[in-house]
Amino acid sequence: MSRPTKAIIDLQALRHNFELAQSLGQSSSHKASQTIPMVKANAYGHGAVEVASALASIAPAFGVASIDEAINLRDNGITQPILLLEGIFSPDEVSLAAQNNFWLMVENQPQVDAIINATLAQKVKVWLGMDTGMHRLGFQPNEIQAAYDALSNSHNVSDDIVITSHFACADDLDSQATSEQIKNFDLHLPKTKNTLSTSLANSAAILAWPQAHRDWQRPGLMIYGSSPFDQPQENADRLKSVMSFESAVISLRNISAGESVGYTANWTAQRDSTIATVTVGYGDGYPRSAPNGTPVLINGVRCPLVGRVSMDMITVDVTDLPQVAIGDKTVLWGPDLPVNEIASACGTIGYELLTRMPARVPRVYS
Ligand SMILES: Cc1ncc(COP(=O)(O)O)c(C=O)c1O
Repeated sequence: MSRPTKAIIDLQALRHNFELAQSLGQSSSHKASQTIPMVKANAYGHGAVEVASALASIAPAFGVASIDEAINLRDNGITQPILLLEGIFSPDEVSLAAQNNFWLMVENQPQVDAIINATLAQKVKVWLGMDTGMHRLGFQPNEIQAAYDALSNSHNVSDDIVITSHFACADDLDSQATSEQIKNFDLHLPKTKNTLSTSLANSAAILAWPQAHRDWQRPGLMIYGSSPFDQPQENADRLKSVMSFESAVISLRNISAGESVGYTANWTAQRDSTIATVTVGYGDGYPRSAPNGTPVLINGVRCPLVGRVSMDMITVDVTDLPQVAIGDKTVLWGPDLPVNEIASACGTIGYELLTRMPARVPRVYS
């Protein structure tokens, strides 16, 4: 028998979430809007090739962070266009992108120059990024017209340039920042006789900001079934969790009140207690910062983590579980224990816990 620690990936839930993103995007004024799943960072930890393969019959393109991530998808049979969200990192990537039908985000002048000056056999499709307020990537609004003109006049660039921007605060439903960014975007769209297509929405905007729905939506977190919000939201409540991070009890012991558990002895029993040891630790992506009391499901019952998370093991107080045995199923996060809840206990966000899950944890697709 092998180590029971694994991430079970529910591909039906994935498809459900992607279709929800598609239908939300199309239900506003943009009936023909298209939805591109973000599969960067190994599909937020879920396995990029498997996720892209599962969505290949319904997704028009995919989004990744680098040409290496895109090549990995191509090498594994993904034939759709692939959008590189940060564009090229060096000029030699332009021809590789054109040859492979990778779409390039363009967000600074050196990237424009590299595209215009490349010698290409095929045109490349570009997404021109506008910095509407996040101040991370993109041209300033008053620079967009010039960048657009330079690209649209280049014989290396296909006609259908997409103008895009990214939101800083779309997960904050009370913030004015998203409306300000949308206003800024619409005000500075380049003037052209070509038809422009546009893209604004990440998961939070797809779910909660219909005025941000444009020709292309870019959902990431939501297709993996987690909400970007820290409060209930009617569309987010329809998502289905895709990853179930599971392990099992490998040891049990009774300790007396006053005895401590684990490295640094940071938890001391207040009563005679039963401690279950589960074979999962920070070497598997379970956060070492998880404090005493973080919930763990054993046989479907919430039990508190006690003691420090080790590299390969955690310890859980199962005193109140009527029956527990070696081999019992343990869930660290999944449909009945949102990853966001664990993340919040650890002072981080679900995105981080999902994306940093290491290769050591086998992904099992169902
Ligand atoms: C440009 C861009 N679009 C879309 C996304 C997807 O965001 P989310 O996972 O919040 O949907 C990201 C993620 O960081 C991004 O950088």
